[in-house]
Amino acid sequence: MNVLLRITDQCNQDCCFCNVSSDESVPLDEAMRRVRQAKDLRTLSISGGEPTLNKGLLELVREAKKNPGIQFVSLQTNAVTAASSDYARMLKEAGLDEAFVALHSHQEKLSNVLTGSQLWQKTVSGIQNLTAAGIKVVINTVINKATYEQLPEFCLFVGRTFPDVKEICFSFIQPHGRAWKNRSALIPRYSEVVPFLKKALEFCDGCGIAYCNPYCGFPLCLFPAPKKCSSEFLDSPRSSSEKEGVSLVKRDKVQGPACQHCAEKTRCNGVWKKYAEIHGFSELKPFKK
Ligand SMILES: C[S@@+](CC[C@H](N)C(=O)[O-])C[C@H]1O[C@@H](n2cnc3c(N)ncnc32)[C@H](O)[C@@H]1O
Repeated sequence: MNVLLRITDQCNQDCCFCNVSSDESVPLDEAMRRVRQAKDLRTLSISGGEPTLNKGLLELVREAKKNPGIQFVSLQTNAVTAASSDYARMLKEAGLDEAFVALHSHQEKLSNVLTGSQLWQKTVSGIQNLTAAGIKVVINTVINKATYEQLPEFCLFVGRTFPDVKEICFSFIQPHGRAWKNRSALIPRYSEVVPFLKKALEFCDGCGIAYCNPYCGFPLCLFPAPKKCSSEFLDSPRSSSEKEGVSLVKRDKVQGPACQHCAEKTRCNGVWKKYAEIHGFSELKPFKK
């Protein structure tokens, strides 16, 4: 089982596509209690808001690492706080296994517009400090109308700038929260994205960067790579969580008429209901049985 714990609603960014509402976090003492009592967890993901703004984060990570019932501790962050190399080292000393870092563009200006901040350079330094401290970094990019055409260049940038980053997670903008409010400017059709993503994945293949299609990604028939890279097939931290948000979120996904004849009907979650409201189901191409 995977669990996501949000430990603050505060954030140092103001992303125009953020899907998190302001009442999803638990106080630190409650987070500590849950971490001490956790059993049989494959992954604990600590998130927010921006979790590094919570002064108790390091203690929480230490506590999680003391519990043999938690195999893997991952931190969802924009890495801005890790622009301090001391902070990155403290995360390592606390025992953090992975930083799952949001980076949406290789272009400073565009990234700053999307994140409503002037912090792109700090995120870049933060990623460098985290890898230098010996923490595994996975980059999570939220594909949207403003970024999809540059996905191949983005991967090239990641490969060149962060030689120690070995995985990119290709999320597709989830049409909830602010992303829904800004839907006409932000939410493309999957099929518009596919040719650019295909090139991006070819580049990743060429330079040894692994990639994944997370729960928040594409329906299986539209992700231009083997099905084994999709969360429905993965035994990894990015497989769908069974607790907290995702089980609720699962009810927000729906299959289309063509999916009824698809060989992967029982494994694929289809598309977000809200996505279907905007773009329908016509892109879905069932796998032959
Ligand atoms: C909500 S943030 C919170 C943690 C932290 N502040 C960060 O930036 O990673 C967790 C992850 O959700 C992603 N995210 C936010 N809004 C999203 C959306 N509409 N669709 C898909 N992913 C989204 C972020 O990019 C980030 O990787």
